[in-house]
Amino acid sequence: IVITVLMIIVAYLAGSISSAILVCKMRGLPDPRENGSGNPGATNVLRIGGASSALLVLFFDMLKGAIPSYLSYLLGLDAASLGFIAVAACLGHIYPVFFQFKGGKGVATAFGAMAPIGHDLALCLVATWVVLVFITRYSSVSAMATAVLAPMYTWWLDERFVLPVAMLSTLILIRHKDNIERLRIGEETKVSRKRSNKK
Ligand code: G3P
Repeated sequence: IVITVLMIIVAYLAGSISSAILVCKMRGLPDPRENGSGNPGATNVLRIGGASSALLVLFFDMLKGAIPSYLSYLLGLDAASLGFIAVAACLGHIYPVFFQFKGGKGVATAFGAMAPIGHDLALCLVATWVVLVFITRYSSVSAMATAVLAPMYTWWLDERFVLPVAMLSTLILIRHKDNIERLRIGEETKVSRKRSNKK
């Protein structure tokens, strides 16, 4: 239990490091919290700064979920504990202690935090997201649909992790409420291949 609590704290602190804000600052890009969708995440950095910055954000946001969660897995913690640690990393990303508790939506961090479940799940999730982005051109729609499917894939691949994954999916869906509203009124921005797109 001591290790679990310690890892929850580590995960929350790691999650609180906003890659989007830091990458934009280091690369002299506008603040993602005040530009585009206002979300400090890879999708919005793609809008603001292009693909290479977005990939950096994606990578580090995934890493901050993956490291605490995989480390806990190596330490032999059970599925429930791993779930709480994964949720803590996402809560750090969503409510970062280092950035006035105003963070992102937790998609990349949750994906990283699912690392202990294995590469089959990762493949299913990436494939789903990519196909959906290709079809819909909406990062948010793809993330939400992938989040809905994630617990089902997990049930198929490793039943022990269904509940932890469902918790992560729920968090992600709740955090997309502004996107749902924008989709409803037709103001959601699509993903385009061009740099700093304005679709
Ligand atoms: O991963 C976040 C994505 O689903 C939506 O981001 O910037 O379009 O609100 P954004």
